[in-house]
Amino acid sequence: MIIVFGSINLDLVVMVKRLPLPGETSAGPDCQTFAGGKGANQALAARRAGAQVKMIGAVGNDSFAAPALANLEAAAVDLSALHRLEGATGIAMIGVESGGENLIIVGSGVNARVSAGWLNGQLSPSTTLLMQAEIPLTEASAAIDAAHAAGARVIFNTAPATDPAVAHLAARADVAISNESEAADIARILGLPHEPQAYAAALAATGRIAVVTLGSKGVLAHDGTSLFTLAPPKVDVVDTTGAGDAFCGAFAAALDRGGDLVQALTEGVAAGSLACTVTGAQSSAPAAGDIARLAATLSVDRR
Ligand code: RIB
Repeated sequence: MIIVFGSINLDLVVMVKRLPLPGETSAGPDCQTFAGGKGANQALAARRAGAQVKMIGAVGNDSFAAPALANLEAAAVDLSALHRLEGATGIAMIGVESGGENLIIVGSGVNARVSAGWLNGQLSPSTTLLMQAEIPLTEASAAIDAAHAAGARVIFNTAPATDPAVAHLAARADVAISNESEAADIARILGLPHEPQAYAAALAATGRIAVVTLGSKGVLAHDGTSLFTLAPPKVDVVDTTGAGDAFCGAFAAALDRGGDLVQALTEGVAAGSLACTVTGAQSSAPAAGDIARLAATLSVDRR
């Protein structure tokens, strides 16, 4: 069972020709709304990849709560430990330019009030706790403590990594997943080498698996013994929003069902690549069969 302790947002998405620079305005056609939030996206991605998933987080008492939860409900993600708080559901204002690159501004809303105490009684040695850095980091830190005390595995995705404390959480997770720029920030804060392979080896040497996603260059990982690298398949990129979340969800689902790191990496990369071909963060999360078919075409280099 995967427990996701994380954020739930409603995403307001506008496709633009070019993302605005500070002080600029970019206009596009209609604003589309999608369920989002890194926690909810990863919960749905893990569920679609075949895992049993419980989402622990919060929505507000506004009209955004229902659409933000709709996909999780439809996919039978367990929402029995979800909290409905007085206040605003989280939102993300997202611009996507032709080519798929995005720019995101988040209004945290009640995601800023989630509590690690909500995990009491939920964690056990058969649980994988999947978290991101879109909730208060004090609560994420307490959640890591609770998971380790319960013997649960912790997979921590460092996105969006805007706070130095993220580095110290990455150094305590069983698996730390970062993109290249997050990895460079973590390396600087922890005094590790900046180059992604050397960073992953150094973080893994402290007793964890370090994964660095490299966008169009694929992914690398280190487990303290070996370096794993994997090039992505060629896909037509429409929108990269949620690709990292699809990777994390499918990666966690593979490990949670007893798969090894090679399986987790190939299925994660397959899911992340497929997610780039569809607009929206959750609408793009692929199904287990599609992930398996694409993953079977990928190979991991191990050194
Ligand atoms: O990772 C993509 C997500 O980041 C979006 O769904 C948005 O809600 C922001 O949290």
